[in-house]
Amino acid sequence: MKYFFLSLIVICLLVVGVFGFRGDKFSQPPIRIFPDMDEQDKIKSQKPSGFFLDGMGSRKPISGTVPNSGDNGILPVEFSEGRDGYYYSGAHEGTYGNGMPEELVLIDESASTALLGRGEDMYGVHCAICHGDAGDGKGVVGHYFSKANVVVASLYNFPQSSHPDGYIYHVIANGKGNMGGYKHNLPVRDRWAIVAYVRTLQAAAK
Ligand code: HEC
Repeated sequence: MKYFFLSLIVICLLVVGVFGFRGDKFSQPPIRIFPDMDEQDKIKSQKPSGFFLDGMGSRKPISGTVPNSGDNGILPVEFSEGRDGYYYSGAHEGTYGNGMPEELVLIDESASTALLGRGEDMYGVHCAICHGDAGDGKGVVGHYFSKANVVVASLYNFPQSSHPDGYIYHVIANGKGNMGGYKHNLPVRDRWAIVAYVRTLQAAAK
């Protein structure tokens, strides 16, 4: 009998403990032994928030940023995933080609200048650390690579005649040997912009 009452009490405590008073309204603040994450700063979807100046909880993507997955419904088409054709692969039916693809719509001089300017910026961000500002392969990182006997290529050794534009595009996207690919960092248009800029670096070095 003693055990019956004991277990009844335990069961009652358990039921109250589990299903308890959670969600009920009290005039006093509850005693929380383990507060865990009961209270936290968070934003619920589609709800207002006092945290942001405009009072909106849902935020727009920061301008100029590019989503790196398709999870949010925005397909990263500009990253060439699963596409072919010269613009996306640098090759015409398996052969690397020369020349800027028509998808870049370089209709006049200002369009070409803008593309080159973009190429210069992106080259400075992604390539110059290794290949050097001038493309001679003497970037800051290259200095340390040489200690591990890794030679950073001078970009002057890859002229259009032996290494077509499409090939340079391919190396930027997929990497080569000790160099990693940049297809997840650089959208297709930026890769071509860098190809164009690499050509001007080569011309300037002559
Ligand atoms: C982390 C250092 C590093 C960065 C950043 C880097 N490269 Fe390289 N790159 C290398 C190395 C090392 C090689 C030599 C690869 C080999 O042959 O093993 C190379 C080789 C190359 C080649 C010659 C490929 C061939 O056929 O041998 C080209 C063209 C090139 N890089 C272009 C670029 C461009 C354009 C960028 C910027 C998007 C870039 N690289 C960024 C390290 C780098």
